[in-house]
Amino acid sequence: MKVLIVNGPNLSRLGTREPEIYGRLTYSELENLCVQWGARLGLEVQVKQSDSEAQLIQWIEDANQKQIPVILNPAAFTHYSFDLANACKGHTAPLIEVHISNPHAREDFRKRSVISPVATGTIAGFGADSYLLALSQIAKLNA
Ligand code: DQA
Repeated sequence: MKVLIVNGPNLSRLGTREPEIYGRLTYSELENLCVQWGARLGLEVQVKQSDSEAQLIQWIEDANQKQIPVILNPAAFTHYSFDLANACKGHTAPLIEVHISNPHAREDFRKRSVISPVATGTIAGFGADSYLLALSQIAKLNA
């Protein structure tokens, strides 16, 4: 089974962006980790990143048409993008929201997610493991 991991703005700078919050793993290391973990679970994982809201929406809609489960780290769009939330709402295969940090333990503006109400579930605060937990859950839902 295919799984699409979609990452929002600034996540390409993982490793150097606020490492005390997001850790030292680089984006390409995260990508490799997810592909390898997915392979162990029998999942064919594709990892994408864009700073563009329109591009993220397009990828989610494409996945939806093919019934491909999505793991989405919407980054700052989490907190205000109703356009992205609408795209997620249309997604009928599982869609898991993930965060590297725990937004609820940070600034007030991060405590609201417009994505959570339209996601199958949310995993936050476990660093790169948030993605691996989401992959394990998708494999379980499919079993
Ligand atoms: C994030 C949390 C968001 O608040 C932030 O804007 C990000 C990353 C996370 O993975 O912890 O860019 O989604």
